[in-house]
Amino acid sequence: MIAGRCQNPKSPRMEEMQHPSPTRETALRARPSAPLSGTVRAPADKSVSHRSLILGAMAAGLTEVEGLLEGEDVLATARCAASLGADVERTGPGAWRVTGAPGGLASPQTVLDFGNSGTGVRLMLGAAAGYALEARFDGDASLRSRPMERIAAPLRQMGAAFETAPGGRLPLTLRGGGLKGIAYDSPVASAQIKSAVLLAGLNAEGETTVREPAPSRDHTEQMLALFGAPPRIAGGAVSVTGGAKLTGARVTVPGDPSSAAFLAAAAVLTSGSRVVIGNVMTNPLRTEFFAVLARMGATLEWGAASGPGADAPADLAAAASGLTGVRVEDASIPAMIDEVPILAVCAAYATGVTRIEGLAELRVKESDRLLAVADLLRANGVDCETGEDWLEVEGRGPGGVPGGGLVETRHDHRIAMSALVLGLAAQKPVAIDDASMIATSYPDFTAHMAALGADVSA
Ligand code: S3P
Repeated sequence: MIAGRCQNPKSPRMEEMQHPSPTRETALRARPSAPLSGTVRAPADKSVSHRSLILGAMAAGLTEVEGLLEGEDVLATARCAASLGADVERTGPGAWRVTGAPGGLASPQTVLDFGNSGTGVRLMLGAAAGYALEARFDGDASLRSRPMERIAAPLRQMGAAFETAPGGRLPLTLRGGGLKGIAYDSPVASAQIKSAVLLAGLNAEGETTVREPAPSRDHTEQMLALFGAPPRIAGGAVSVTGGAKLTGARVTVPGDPSSAAFLAAAAVLTSGSRVVIGNVMTNPLRTEFFAVLARMGATLEWGAASGPGADAPADLAAAASGLTGVRVEDASIPAMIDEVPILAVCAAYATGVTRIEGLAELRVKESDRLLAVADLLRANGVDCETGEDWLEVEGRGPGGVPGGGLVETRHDHRIAMSALVLGLAAQKPVAIDDASMIATSYPDFTAHMAALGADVSA
């Protein structure tokens, strides 16, 4: 039985998001801008938003979420959680109530469509695998091109059955239940893989342990503790015990450092700017971009974190600064994996060369981001070189980026926003072919840019 109150047509916001306006402009242009100034609140964190819905759907009782990111990715997860039996209700802007599926997640009557969201589909695959259910998972053209075998392989070892499209892709059918715990050495530092295995482990027999080559974001670990099932963390491995009970919790979602990165970069690159970004999560496994930008010479000032815990938010002030090229080694990448495109844009305005290593995972993001970033830069007169897993950007110095390019965004929100930020300080406007994907993670991006005085419009 599906108890999906979030599918209630009385919720106008959900309706609007299910059927985006056909009149929406898809092309956008960023023009050389006057100094940016003002304060904006960072949009809610996407990773924490997905997890609050998924853990809420698995937990007993009520989960109340404050400040949920109402981007298309997270709304897709909300609809899928409802299809799997949770009661999901929006009670106000960013305010959501999730009542865990009674008796656990159950076979949905519809295909679970995760749209563009890798995090949504991969975490939900892990969560659903622990229950005796059958479900079909799918997504948009970008998500259908991304690897799912990295999730299916460990879950198969635990006892789940998968029928995937060729190449281990979506659409796929999962038959879950009857799992046994495993010790899994993940070949990549990926919070999505780690989280999927741990979520499956909650409903497996015995202990499930995940070890990864470098630490990835730890929101699942933090939030399992909040939901009453703290994992054991020792010697770089994370373990959960099957049968651990999750209890509904109150979640306040902090601001997303990955979205704040675009605002900070816009301020640093646009001459004369000073911008304050409110409520940015300070978790060190998410904020390496700001550390690298500061190393390049950016003026960034963090305020005091409000509250305890790794995810506590703080205000971040960013001001226009001259940048110098740096070398970023692979150890830095897991804590700034989503910020590499915007770092490459910053590198274009630096004096000297920036070399970024350890980028193999960029090939399998919403687009092949290494290729997309190189094309973005070259289309705007910036020289760069790429290898299988590295990028070198020839900085052109302040005011030195020609611009004038049309950037193909390839269903990738972060490529779209990176190109627009590049255009704010370039000599000529920078256009993108399709801005619609920005709504997956940052629906207010153009409104926030306009509020700061940036010239981003059709
Ligand atoms: C995420 C993990 C990262 C990141 C993604 C969000 C998460 O993906 O790129 O945007 O919330 O767990 P990988 O686990 O594939 O590195």
